[in-house]
Amino acid sequence: MCGIVGYVGKRQAQPVLVNCLKRLEYRGYDSCGIALLGKNLEIYKDAMRIESLEKSLRPNSSHTGIGHTRWATHGKPSQKNAHPHTDCTGKIAVVHNGVIENFLQLREQLTKEGHVFSSDTDTEVIPHLIEKYYQGNLEQAVSRAIVDITGSYAFVAMHVDWRGLVVARNESPLILGIGDKEFIVASDVPAVLDYTDRVIYLEDGDIGVITENALKCTSNGKQVERAEHRIPWSMEEAQKAGHEHFMIKEIHEQPRVIRNTYKGYISALEPVVNLGISKNADISDILIIACGTSYYASLVGKHVIQSLSQIPVRVEIASEFNYSDTVLGKTWVIAVTQSGETADSLRALKKAKESGCRTLVITNVVGSTATRIADETLYITAGPEICVAATKSFIAQLTMLYLLALAWSSAGVRSRASLITELRQLPNKVQELLDREEQITEQAKYLARYENAFFVGRGINFPIALEGALKLKEISYIHAEGYPAGELKHGPFALLTPETPVVALTARDNTYDTLLANIKEIKARESPVIAVAQEGDDEIEKYVDFLIRVPRVEPVFSPVVNAVALQLLAYYTARERGCPIDTPRNLAKSVTVE
Ligand code: AGP
Repeated sequence: MCGIVGYVGKRQAQPVLVNCLKRLEYRGYDSCGIALLGKNLEIYKDAMRIESLEKSLRPNSSHTGIGHTRWATHGKPSQKNAHPHTDCTGKIAVVHNGVIENFLQLREQLTKEGHVFSSDTDTEVIPHLIEKYYQGNLEQAVSRAIVDITGSYAFVAMHVDWRGLVVARNESPLILGIGDKEFIVASDVPAVLDYTDRVIYLEDGDIGVITENALKCTSNGKQVERAEHRIPWSMEEAQKAGHEHFMIKEIHEQPRVIRNTYKGYISALEPVVNLGISKNADISDILIIACGTSYYASLVGKHVIQSLSQIPVRVEIASEFNYSDTVLGKTWVIAVTQSGETADSLRALKKAKESGCRTLVITNVVGSTATRIADETLYITAGPEICVAATKSFIAQLTMLYLLALAWSSAGVRSRASLITELRQLPNKVQELLDREEQITEQAKYLARYENAFFVGRGINFPIALEGALKLKEISYIHAEGYPAGELKHGPFALLTPETPVVALTARDNTYDTLLANIKEIKARESPVIAVAQEGDDEIEKYVDFLIRVPRVEPVFSPVVNAVALQLLAYYTARERGCPIDTPRNLAKSVTVE
């Protein structure tokens, strides 16, 4: 995710802005820039790192400026797309976090009115709108501009004829650090901690006007006071937003990640998902290729795409596909890769392309190698994932695969409408589960005592059993295997003892009764059972040792809540065992070798 900073105060702005941007580096970025206020704006941008931006800076005594680290969402990482963005006159500069959903319409309208755009970003419409409405008062121009904008934003604007900064926020975080005769604006607490521990959190709809000595905050045209808070965190704690590890921070970001991923693709007027990707009539089937966690997300995708669209779907592990004679006819090949850089997936994508297949990549990283190979790209907007173990990118991949299935669904309007309504409720359901995460700590303490575990599920939840086992093994170092619940009796039963706990995933679909029967078989072999079950399922309580309750959802969406429950279980188990959760041994975030 992008980072924004702004400074007004007694110090020279340039070194403060550079330092604040460095404090946001941990979030990941692909380009950066700063603008300093003077008679004219002095703007520096770099398509790479803050260090190289720093080397290009000339001495500047300005006391006001803005800065940005960009994580590309619209337009590839490049100098031209890096922030700050300006208007036609070059007098206004803006840095922005979030997504302007109606930027295409705004851009078209502004172009007709004579505005000339020089980047591919959604952000650039903001300085042009401010220019359009500017009549000598930046605050008023910003207030008017945001009326035209739909979407999420936190932005900072400045104008050469206006001393100070104007900030606005809607659905993207924005804070103000308060120093002695100085203010530091930022998207995140770590940016300001070198200068102050006093902060104000702006709220949705707030507009702030900041000068060296004063701050004025308005909401709906009325002046408002926002409470000041003291931040007791060290820099490292602040980077994790107070969480002990990046993994748990990222798990907690998932409600927002789901929303960000579907936002913009679901029509507000009718039950329609439009991804801008057409389902070609002459496509015979779909092959999804992926590795690791992305492979498990793809297996869920296979279930939903097949059942909603009736298109045959196969999923192959990319590294296996590369050595297989898989028949590719009029097959549409979809690569699912969070990083877009996984060597096995890239090779598989190239192989599919060379075979003449139409290719699509679902990825989190704009401009990644996979996006340059594939014909088409869909972005999951999970934001940078720092923990090696994938969590929020997995949930975002699932969300995108649901969208794909809904976009091509042959289901009737009513059932599509109800699925879309359910999808929109998922962020709240996941939040409900996260709000009760303590329920999992007891089970985690219990699981942490063992060295082997099985995870079982059926149907659409079998891939979640695989993913749950992978999460547990990679961060807690407990040997764990994911199995279809019906397969245990074909061999693994030999391993079931009181020393082998089994985690069973349930869903209220056609697999429920047989899964219950499987749990009874497992209990007969004296293995302890931890079941993940929906609220209101009283039946299961009689047969298991521990229960993890998840909110009720339509069975098709049960993989989402079940997966989040297993992420928490893996996290708290690894924490109990004192493992280095964010950086497990022998693993890398991006696997760039075959
Ligand atoms: C899981 O927690 C891992 N990080 C790993 O399995 C990962 O999903 C795999 O390496 C594929 O990565 P990709 O999505 O970036 O291609």
